[in-house]
Amino acid sequence: MSNRYFSYRDGRLQASGVPLDALAEAVGTPFYCYDADALEHSYSHFATALSGLPATICYALKANSNQAVIATFARLGAGADVVSEGELRRALTAGVPARKIVFAGVGKTPRELAAGLDAGILQFNVESLSELKRLAEVATARGTTAPVALRVNPDVDAGTHAKITTGRADSKFGIDAAEARAFLLANREIPGIRIEGLAVHIGSQLTDIQPYRLAFERLIALYRELKTAGLPLKRLDFGGGIGISYRHGPLSENGAGEEVGEADARVTAYAEMVRGLVQGLDADFVFEPGRLLVGNAGVLVTRVLYVKDNGPRRFVIVDAAMNDLIRPTLYDAWHEIVPLTQPAAGAALRPVDVVGPICESSDTFARERPLPPVAEGDLLAFSSAGAYSFVMASTYNSRPLAPEVLVRGDRYAVVRPRMDYETMIGQDRLPDWLAGQDDSPRQRKAGRARGAA
Ligand code: LLP
Repeated sequence: MSNRYFSYRDGRLQASGVPLDALAEAVGTPFYCYDADALEHSYSHFATALSGLPATICYALKANSNQAVIATFARLGAGADVVSEGELRRALTAGVPARKIVFAGVGKTPRELAAGLDAGILQFNVESLSELKRLAEVATARGTTAPVALRVNPDVDAGTHAKITTGRADSKFGIDAAEARAFLLANREIPGIRIEGLAVHIGSQLTDIQPYRLAFERLIALYRELKTAGLPLKRLDFGGGIGISYRHGPLSENGAGEEVGEADARVTAYAEMVRGLVQGLDADFVFEPGRLLVGNAGVLVTRVLYVKDNGPRRFVIVDAAMNDLIRPTLYDAWHEIVPLTQPAAGAALRPVDVVGPICESSDTFARERPLPPVAEGDLLAFSSAGAYSFVMASTYNSRPLAPEVLVRGDRYAVVRPRMDYETMIGQDRLPDWLAGQDDSPRQRKAGRARGAA
């Protein structure tokens, strides 16, 4: 792996100044490791690319919602894009000012709407007219007014994985543009609601700028039209979705490509495109990047438990599983797999299947992946695991959640310890009919008789 933040030094893979094998000794495997310099770099590069525009960068917490990650961005001036009361609370707890928080999502509950209102957030991105009605009720009942951006569905195909594309007319997201237009023109005053802007988000892991251009042009045309018709709009939310490179290391098809540089170039092109489109527009802007800011700032480190040959296939069984990192299972996502000890120059690559211990075949990280020789006990890293990785983890097979470590220079901190078994099991409760001492059939019968009396 060769990016600026995770690279070999003296034959050992490091996060900035910390060898990952030393972290494995300290916290055990599997574990997630993030690099603070990488987080700061990606944020600063994005902010610099947009500098001069009246923009709020609302980090999409869903990509990685560890307090330490959010706080790193908050200190740099970031806002937050949240999609649940849990994320709202995480953002506020990490120090994101409420006036920099946008609340998105197709299914906000009345309680969540109330929580956003009470916190005093920047805006609700409303995704249906039914939600708008509900928000109006909740706001009116609280004697307040809700700031709203209507999320418009621009009917643009982002050309990304079907499970993460959101801007087509057949997706569940947003309001049909013509319907939004007709509604807003016909309903200038809505008690409890202040329509302040329009929002769009067409999907995630976009590597092409063109779908953005198309979607933004449509959004801006609608914005201009509504403003000309006298609506007091003032904000455009361009969503997130800028893709990162998942193939960048010495073992990838692209060779030792520089993924940091690649993402930087994409950001620069994106920002230039936005600048061109918004020239002379009376609006301020919200951006909701998630993956771009965290994706390549993290790795998942795992240890090889067993190597076995089944007929023609060689299986490398590691101690991380689909419960830790589900992207390969869910999206056929490709994560580079890199040994923590640098392979000898010219080491022969052999295709292997890298799998986890979970009892289903879908617990497979990679099939027929060419890897240098791998032995039991070796440590491997899955790269690009800063986004949608730990946050999508579960305790399936009763495997406790892995710890998260943040490195800064030559220091590190465990920013979430490994879940212990007591915590995991202790969440369960026995119902009273199982908690009692005597649950003989005779007792059950007596209980039923009592209940019937
Ligand atoms: N804004 C909205 C309204 C979104 O729905 C999303 C992501 C974002 C912003 C941030 O998108 P980003 O900049 O991170 O692409 N679990 C999937 C990705 C799901 C993305 C959902 N929405 C994955 O692992 O690829």
